[in-house]
Amino acid sequence: TGHVTLDPGFVNTASCRSAITYIDGDAGILRYRGIPIEQLAEKSSFLETSYLLIYGELPTQAELDDFDQRIRRHTLLHEELKRFFEGFPRDAHPMPVLSSAVSALSTFYQDSLNPFDPEQVEISTVRLLAKLPTIAAYAYKKSVGQPMLYPDNSLSLTDNFLRMTFGFPAEPYEVDPTLTKALDQLFILHADHEQNCSTSTVRLVGSSQANLFASISAGINALFGPLHGGANQAVLEMLQGIKDSDDDVDAFMKKVKNKEQGVRLMGFGHRVYKNYDPRAAIIKKTADQVLDQLAGGDELLEIALRLEEIALADDYFVERKLYPNVDFYTGLIYKAMGFPTRMFTVLFALGRLPGWIAQWREMIEDPETKIGRPRQLYVGATERDWQPVSSR
Ligand code: CMC
Repeated sequence: TGHVTLDPGFVNTASCRSAITYIDGDAGILRYRGIPIEQLAEKSSFLETSYLLIYGELPTQAELDDFDQRIRRHTLLHEELKRFFEGFPRDAHPMPVLSSAVSALSTFYQDSLNPFDPEQVEISTVRLLAKLPTIAAYAYKKSVGQPMLYPDNSLSLTDNFLRMTFGFPAEPYEVDPTLTKALDQLFILHADHEQNCSTSTVRLVGSSQANLFASISAGINALFGPLHGGANQAVLEMLQGIKDSDDDVDAFMKKVKNKEQGVRLMGFGHRVYKNYDPRAAIIKKTADQVLDQLAGGDELLEIALRLEEIALADDYFVERKLYPNVDFYTGLIYKAMGFPTRMFTVLFALGRLPGWIAQWREMIEDPETKIGRPRQLYVGATERDWQPVSSR
């Protein structure tokens, strides 16, 4: 078929030019707008990093304060949207609840859907950043049968989310700076990762000139899969499975290496990083600190460390350049913080949101953007005639 090249999974095809995130997979380098992830993880805040990703520069103090204030003003959900949550079954997974609620934002803000009006894009940006934590906390409260809490706009974005998740209406909520710092850092590490599956989805949907809410909702659904954002939940389920079964770690590894159906070492391997994942290196340190402080020794952490130790010395993993990725440790940290397993991928979505928004905005402003429309190599039947049902 002429000039069409086959590239399943787009391992060799650049879909756009982007000035947002730089990755060198061989060297284990990750930078947002040129700034190394190590510096941002240590010194920045999630709010500041979100600004950097979306607007391209670190904010001045005045710009940061203004950004913060604008977001705080928009944390409330429309009361009708609140009722939306009652329609889902009690045991609904919070990820589809999240994507549905974001999709529904298009129905509540019909005045801000024009992708080519910068003012409308700006207000949608602020609404999304402000409301996604509220939506996520509501989804959580719904799943455990507890009353939802309205946002308290005297709190920072991350503290507000923690309070709405773990707080109760009749009790004062005490901010825990260690918890806030750790969660904020995890959000920074997840905030963008160039053209990964969910981000490419956001861009592809957006390339049809669908609005920002519709595009982000699609990205949340892409993130839900276990090979992508769902991996953090899958890692914990894997560790728990090993703990609960008679299998020891070696028996589990044997299944992985024999490629038994559906058995992968979750949290290992990456399409781009072939030496190490710089985010995993940062998180491993946090895992040690948080688990020490919040949970004491953790049996699942022991299993994780053992798996890692075996894998790093095993030919199967070495030959294929499989190393722990960002999700290998995040689940353990989230668990120690008190989040149920089903919330893990929601936390990834909260972190990735500014990246999705930045990428969508870059896409919509780029004169080179065209509707995303891959080609195919047809391998079906050649022309043949329709047959009456009696002769099939
Ligand atoms: N356990 C066992 N074998 C693996 C694993 C793993 N986790 N990952 C890759 N392999 C093998 C794979 O079977 C293949 O072997 P062979 O060459 O013999 O056929 C080889 O390594 C190359 O793998 P691939 O599937 O072609 O690589 P990919 O770039 O398409 O996939 C990946 C990347 C991340 C989807 C994959 O490594 C994986 O499934 N990992 C587990 C899930 C996971 O942790 N995902 C989170 C990724 S980081 C955060 C995010 O992006 O959301």
